[in-house]
Amino acid sequence: MISNKINEGINGTPIMPGDKSISHRSIIIPSISNGVCEINNILQSDDVFHTMNAFKSMGVRIEENNERLIIYGKGLNSLQEARNEIYLGNSGTSARLLTGLLSAQKFKSVLNGDSSLSKRPMKRISEPLSNMGAKIHTTNGSLPLTIDGKKLSPSNINLEIPSAQIKSGLLLASLYIKGETKITENKITRDHTETMLQSFGANIDIKKINKKKIITTVGQKELQSKNIDVPNDLSSSAFFIVAALINKNSHLTLKNINNNSSRNGILLALKKMGAKIKLKNQRNHNNENVCDIEVVSSELYGCDLGPEFADLMIDEYPILSIAASFANSPSIFRGLKELRVKESDRLKLILLNLQNCGVDCKVENDNLYIYPSNNYKIKNNIIQTDFDHRIAMSFCIMGTMVGPLNIDNKDSIKTSFPTFKKELNKLGGKIF
Ligand code: S3P
Repeated sequence: MISNKINEGINGTPIMPGDKSISHRSIIIPSISNGVCEINNILQSDDVFHTMNAFKSMGVRIEENNERLIIYGKGLNSLQEARNEIYLGNSGTSARLLTGLLSAQKFKSVLNGDSSLSKRPMKRISEPLSNMGAKIHTTNGSLPLTIDGKKLSPSNINLEIPSAQIKSGLLLASLYIKGETKITENKITRDHTETMLQSFGANIDIKKINKKKIITTVGQKELQSKNIDVPNDLSSSAFFIVAALINKNSHLTLKNINNNSSRNGILLALKKMGAKIKLKNQRNHNNENVCDIEVVSSELYGCDLGPEFADLMIDEYPILSIAASFANSPSIFRGLKELRVKESDRLKLILLNLQNCGVDCKVENDNLYIYPSNNYKIKNNIIQTDFDHRIAMSFCIMGTMVGPLNIDNKDSIKTSFPTFKKELNKLGGKIF
């Protein structure tokens, strides 16, 4: 770990935001279930607001009171055609999940998004849906998308790309299909959709066979709403965890964090690097594992992570790369192809921005190599984010070690963690 004259350490108990993935599902699933659902600790960020506004525009009554929502669900077939196109901003999760859900409705929908979302691949979800009988028109494989809702047919789908968004879009469509839909995941991805559907009474069977998962649904069964307490987001917490690890004299406690084994690779990877992280008060709440996390400054070693880690922590490579830049030996992160189709080409931006900060690193065959040093000289103090929230936040944390960095656009942070700046500044003086 290099010495740090910028702050006195990252100390305290910052408040982490509600989990983004679970927040989206906590709006979508109750909106097509029967009954009144109270949702607590929903993430109040732009991405989630887009999902909420989409359902409001399809006639769902949703009452908002800060982090508390009340959704009045009227069942599987209660959605109405939106009067205008549905705008989803930067949110890939909303786009993929809604494509699945809307392809099985009795009406037409048009989905649109910001310039970053409009570059992201949608065929990965529209093609399997088309094989089930959906009528989806993409714009060169991306948004805007026109969906002409149809009756879909029972299918047997083998998921080639490891993506919880694709799986979840297909699962939502399957709820409307008379008969059996079988989805095989060759690599396990985050399981929040199937977990919530199960607890809402869907006809769903989940089998794990070696490293595969087979999910079978029988559709047209009405779902029954349940109240939801959204746990706090591990992906957002990762920025603070790494900040505490790499800054000397740090001691941080993060409370009520979602520790789901289908997406906690960041904790496994950091522990492999020698991080002093303790999971406390581990409990199960609403079928999700939750814990408190205690972190102290740690001497980190580099590590070699295989592609299997990518499925368990795809969103955390930007911040893991910052941790690796302050380890005492090189790291290799393998199999990062999917990073190229996130809110930005994250592999390109991690490389470019680390190099701007003076870090020796390279990408070969979608593997990232980082050779840390204990004395970085900034080469170009402009961090290019391409409006990617996780790139922006990762380099804010880099700035706690190398001095403030000029991040070209911090507005993107509102998509997932609007209180990031406030919480970070509470801890070690003005470091944002
Ligand atoms: C998400 C799944 C992941 C992740 C995204 C959220 C979800 O995408 O990158 O931030 O909520 O399902 P993929 O499943 O496409 O990898």
